[in-house]
Amino acid sequence: MFTQKISTKLEEDLLNYRPILLNGDSKNVINIIPDKSIKLIYGSPPYPNAKRNYKTWKIKDYIKEISPFLRRSIPKLRDDGFIIINIKANRTPATPGGSSERSLVVEELMIYMKKRLGVYCVDIEIWVKSNPVPTGLRAACQDAYEYNLWFSKSPKWQINIDSLRRGYSKSSLDTYKNSLYKRRTNGLLYVSRDKMISPHKIGALPINVVSGAVSGKKISHQAVQPEYLAEKYIKACTSEGDLVLDPWLGSGTTGVVAISHKRKFIGIEISQDFLKLAQDRIEKASNVKDK
Ligand SMILES: C[S@@+](CC[C@H](N)C(=O)[O-])C[C@H]1O[C@@H](n2cnc3c(N)ncnc32)[C@H](O)[C@@H]1O
Repeated sequence: MFTQKISTKLEEDLLNYRPILLNGDSKNVINIIPDKSIKLIYGSPPYPNAKRNYKTWKIKDYIKEISPFLRRSIPKLRDDGFIIINIKANRTPATPGGSSERSLVVEELMIYMKKRLGVYCVDIEIWVKSNPVPTGLRAACQDAYEYNLWFSKSPKWQINIDSLRRGYSKSSLDTYKNSLYKRRTNGLLYVSRDKMISPHKIGALPINVVSGAVSGKKISHQAVQPEYLAEKYIKACTSEGDLVLDPWLGSGTTGVVAISHKRKFIGIEISQDFLKLAQDRIEKASNVKDK
């Protein structure tokens, strides 16, 4: 499958489920990946205006910075592939004459993806953080969520919805137990006949909100994601043996999750130090040690 540009060693690694970690700028490195080979691109780019120990992109330049990678990445997706970007909006610095204003560049990015990349919006999901980092901001409420921009290459997609089912809450179970869903008399047909509705045997349908804590890992990367985020989308969009790409690998969280779910994995990271960190984490997770 990987013939001209990706070396035989890398091809062999992929076939043997050994993760491939590449150092460089993802907008250039993406070119060595063959067209229509990736099932899922999942990653978290530098956030607009974020203050981090790695290069981030300014709000005003954001679309210009991220778009070369995005444009080149879509042909690399299989026709049934997905791209999901985890991203957080940010604010402009306050000035003596003005408050710190919330940027709408992430909303611009959603529109850019739809209109310029020709992909189809599965959903804009929300990650609600149970322990958001306090900012001391008084111009607005504390920022406690991020977006997951979920797009499909094909207008008709399939996701593994059953793999995301969750337990029913006690109140839902009580409702199922006690309620007969009746045909309404106001003409609005919610159910066509009186019936009892019972819970699905493998759990309730998933919702488009992910809730949980930010990662508590004490490592040298400042934006380590909790594993449950990548896990949701890897389970939803891929099956065993499918190829996952994280173009902004950071500390390697997506790779850890992909490998532990028996997916093939390519990660790209611009910093050699972070690449090394990711490599250590992914190797530990997979027990794959190259000699
Ligand atoms: C938000 S962090 C990703 C964190 C990651 N999800 C994790 O769990 O550790 C973004 C990463 O993208 C890297 N990066 C920035 N610009 C890049 C580029 N042009 N190509 C590849 N990686 C880049 C940064 O060095 C940083 O590690």
